[in-house]
Amino acid sequence: MSCKVVVAIDGPAGSGKSTIARLLAQKLGLLYIDTGAMYRAATLKALRSGVDPTDGKALGEMLENTRIELGETNGKQWVRLDGDDVTLAIRSPEVGSLVSVVSGHPEVRSQMTREQRRLAQSGGVVLDGRDIGTHVLPGADVKFYFTADLEVRVDRRLKENHEKGFHTDRESVKREMIERDRLDSARKCAPLRVADDAVVIDTSHLTISEVLSLVEGYVRGRTG
Ligand code: DC
Repeated sequence: MSCKVVVAIDGPAGSGKSTIARLLAQKLGLLYIDTGAMYRAATLKALRSGVDPTDGKALGEMLENTRIELGETNGKQWVRLDGDDVTLAIRSPEVGSLVSVVSGHPEVRSQMTREQRRLAQSGGVVLDGRDIGTHVLPGADVKFYFTADLEVRVDRRLKENHEKGFHTDRESVKREMIERDRLDSARKCAPLRVADDAVVIDTSHLTISEVLSLVEGYVRGRTG
């Protein structure tokens, strides 16, 4: 397979994108770029510096002086914000409840999109997010759109929160997920939608290894 392949995985929260993107990257020796983590880091910075999450202009200015780095050490992903390790902090419920507001602003999206395209320019990458196949990298070699039943996605997010030490209840996780889906799909700028040429996979009743082998099969098939 070409090591220059570009794989895009989009879909709503809890559909399994990041788990599969990470595993696929490990398996095929690709770089994994978690674009949601970039929007989360931007949201955390706004929270920490008191910037109004509804003020796109102020957020855009804030981001001009912000450094967001993604990386991996010993198979573990990390995220740094202005040099600070924020890997866990960006997964907090506070960030989760504001990230769709922050990421709805064109001033925020334009900067993130530019950086994502820069990171992907040499190929050999898997990016997951909401608008990768439709907007950030419309020429990606292989595009997937993951989906799953709401109740399944809520279960996954509850389990993930629990493992990270965040105590959340089912009703609030569900409410927040419905609201986030609504905002991500309804925004004017690069909304969440299925790219015309994406392979749609409903992960509700599939195991991680079943999804991984499906995705790997498509990537190998498309790239020879
Ligand atoms: O994948 P995630 O749940 O960590 O993403 C957090 C939020 O970031 C998501 O609700 C919407 C936003 N996002 C986006 O607008 N575009 C992307 N490419 C990735 C994430």
